[in-house]
Order: sequence, then structure tokens, then C-alpha cells
Amino acid sequence: MKITRRKALQLGAFAGGALLLPTGLERISYAQTAVNKFTLPFRRPPVLQPVRSDAQTDYYEITMRKAQVEILPGKSTEIWGYNGITPGPTIIQRAGRQSVVRFINNSLGVPTSTHLHGMASLPQYDGYAEDLTFPGYYKDYYYPNNRAATLWYHDHAIHATARNVYMGLAGMYIVQDQTELDLPLPKGEYDVPLIIQDKQFATNGSLIFDDQGEKSQFGDVIVVNGVPWPRMEVARRKYRFRALNGSISRSYQLSLSTGDSFLMIGTDAGLKPAPVAVKNFRFASGERYEFVIDFSKYPIGTQIILRNTNPKNNDEYSGRTNEIMRFDVVRDAPDDSSVPSQLRAFTPLLASQAVRTREFRYERTNGLWVINGKVWDVNRVDGAPQFGDIEIWRLYNNSGGWFHPIHLHLIDCQILDRNGRAPFSYEVGWKDVFYVGENESIRVIGKFGPNTGKYMQHCHNTVHEDHDMMSQFEVLQ
Ligand code: C2O
Ligand code: CU
Repeated sequence: MKITRRKALQLGAFAGGALLLPTGLERISYAQTAVNKFTLPFRRPPVLQPVRSDAQTDYYEITMRKAQVEILPGKSTEIWGYNGITPGPTIIQRAGRQSVVRFINNSLGVPTSTHLHGMASLPQYDGYAEDLTFPGYYKDYYYPNNRAATLWYHDHAIHATARNVYMGLAGMYIVQDQTELDLPLPKGEYDVPLIIQDKQFATNGSLIFDDQGEKSQFGDVIVVNGVPWPRMEVARRKYRFRALNGSISRSYQLSLSTGDSFLMIGTDAGLKPAPVAVKNFRFASGERYEFVIDFSKYPIGTQIILRNTNPKNNDEYSGRTNEIMRFDVVRDAPDDSSVPSQLRAFTPLLASQAVRTREFRYERTNGLWVINGKVWDVNRVDGAPQFGDIEIWRLYNNSGGWFHPIHLHLIDCQILDRNGRAPFSYEVGWKDVFYVGENESIRVIGKFGPNTGKYMQHCHNTVHEDHDMMSQFEVLQ
């Protein structure tokens, strides 16, 4: 077994007593967190209302600030939050309307760049890593809301994304359209965001950011919508869940403790062509998966744990990171929802439509995370498709020691194959993050548009992104 720096520290800790992290803060033990799993009530981030609206546009304002919040019972934790909360407020918008969101950086003390992940924004509104908004300034971001999907907004500041997101700068953004709203899927209070993250705390309650020497940040406390291992009371009916992996580095393999399957209905970029029953799925940073669980088959009193059977190369903390939250079936409720057998019109892109194939190798060289051997350079473009071109990108990882969730800005893609085989049934559909696992090679296909200009692509383990597994392509006129 390879001894990582973290493991060496832990070994040292067992020998010598307290664990001292590089920050000088001592990590809190599970007992000291005062959390009993599945006792804290589940909650959802508040929905943000526009400050004003006109015929085509809704205007929102979000202030980024530091705040003291209670995450662990009885302890005060400093977070950096959109409107002072983490996750930030949820924006729910209609396709076809425009949003203008004013992100105000008054007192955060660090520069920010806000990316709405999953939106085909113009380059100047895409949260380009070098497009920094300094303390004392704000920036208005224009979003076209071109299609229905579960998106998220998060910080993207150059070399500081992992820390900024870890400290709290992340929130959900949902676009709905009439076609989707007309489907009989569960709606309203039965349409539930699940923002899953992992954190680690010091004995004084503060968050510890420790990227283990620019490798990965793993926490031992799982939070859902900001609450450690919450307990959600559910009725005996169907629920739609919009799961977002908002973790810095951790990936999950999620399943239900009953062993039952559930219906996967959505991927990163919206509804799947058709629902598919799955018993578990692999889930990396930046990905979104939507699924329906039908609790009507369980008697009142049933407790169902959402479990994580750790995928490879994640630091596992036994008894903690293997469980996410619990659903407690507590009441009956009418249910007029259903999951149609067709969810969305879908035309598969064919390899034969592609005008070219590009290859991107994600690897570690000389202590750096690189793409085709190179680190981020604002002045270099790696690939310049013509507007409207369909291309195949082969993404590969020739290591068994880590995995990379690769994110392409601007476009939605489909997975053609994974190691030469069909993609997993749950990842069929439109996606913008691709789990490139250990020694995996996948081919994705997408059409470049609807905008021209420079856009980033990078690993969404944001520690890797920051150091320096990020590149850019330019869509040419
Ligand atoms: Cu969610 Cu460029 O990232
Ligand atoms: Cu990576």
C-alpha cells in the first residue's frame, strides 16, 4: 500500500496522540462533532426571488460573504457563502427567459469568478478563471436559459477554485421548460435538491481545507444541503431527487440500503431519453443525476439509508463516508405522479457525423496535474473547432491511482463508449462531466455551439483543476 501524506499523518497520530494538520488545526473526532447520524432534519436551500423582472428578464442579486453558521450542533463555523449561506440559494428559472445575476463581492477578501455550470453562457459570462471580480466590485452575469436541466453555480477563480467552493461558494440553479413541466413527474415539494459534499472540521468548529499536497481534499463529514447526514421524512409516494455532487474531490457510488432499484431520469444536461432502473451509480464532482424513488412500496416506519460504497481512490472514513442520509417513511400521501416511458426527444449523435477526433490525456507529471503534458496557460488554446462542428473527444486516464471527472464548458455531449463498451445505462443522455475512472478511456461526442469564443475544459476534482489540469478550446466563427 502506498502511504499518502495523509495516511502518514494518521499513522503518526495513532502513535503520538492528536492529529495535527498542515493548517495547524486539529481535526475533530466523530464523537466530538456531537452529530448522531440521521437525527438532524433535512432541509432545502431557500429559493431566490428576483429583485425585479421585465418582459424577458429576471434580475437577481447575490452577495458573497463570510458568515458564521452552525453546521455541527453547538459549534460555530466560518463559511464563505452566496448570501452568507451554504449551499447558496436555489434559482429556479424558465427556459426562454433571460436571467441577469449580479454577483457582489463586497467583503469576501478574495477575488472570485462565478461559473454557472451547465449553461451555454457567452464567454464573458462563463466564469472564466482569469476573469476575476475583486473585493469591492460586482459583476452582472447574463444567462440565456436555453434548455431545462439541473445546473449549479460555483466559484471558478484561478488556482483558488477548490478552496472557494469548499468554503461554501456553491448553489443549485434549475431551468424548467413547459415540455418538462407537462410531464407527470413529481413536482413542487416532491422535487428535491440533494447537494452532496464532504467536509472536515477542526475542534474549534472551523473548516479544514487540506488538499494533501495539491492532490485531493477529502472530508469525513458528509453534508447534504449543508446538513450532516440528515434525516428526511418522506410520504408513501414518489419523489424526484436532483442530486449534485458538490464535493471537491470525492466520488460516490450511491445505492439504497434496501438493495432496491430506483429510476434514473436525468443526467447533467437534463432529462434522459427514457428512465432506467438502477441499483447504484458512480457519481463524481460536478455531475448531476436525477432519479425517482417510489416510497409507496414501504410501510410507514421504514428507514432507508442512502449509502455510498466508496469508489476507488477516495479516502474512506469507516462508519462515516459510507452513509449519506436517511429517508424515514412517516405518512401516507396521495400521488398522481408517474414516470413516463419516454422523457425527452433524443437523437443520438453518431460517430460517423464527427468531422474529427481529438485526444486528451489526463495525467500526473512532475508533481503536476496536466492535460497532454501541459498546464493551464491563458494564452494557449488546445483545439479550435469550427462553430457547428461535431467532434469526438477521446478522454483518457492511464493511471490506476486516481480518477478524473472531466468537464467541458459550453457544450453538452453524449458518451459514445467507455473502454470500447457501451456507457453505463444511467449515463446515457446529455452530459457535461465525464467520469474518467482508473485506466479508463472514453469517447464523447458533441456539437460546438451555440456560442463562439474561448471556453475551459478541466478536471472537476477542483484541486487537480487548480494545479493545473485545465485547458481551453476556442469555437471559431
Ligand atoms: Cu463546475 Cu469549470 O466547472
Ligand atoms: Cu483530476
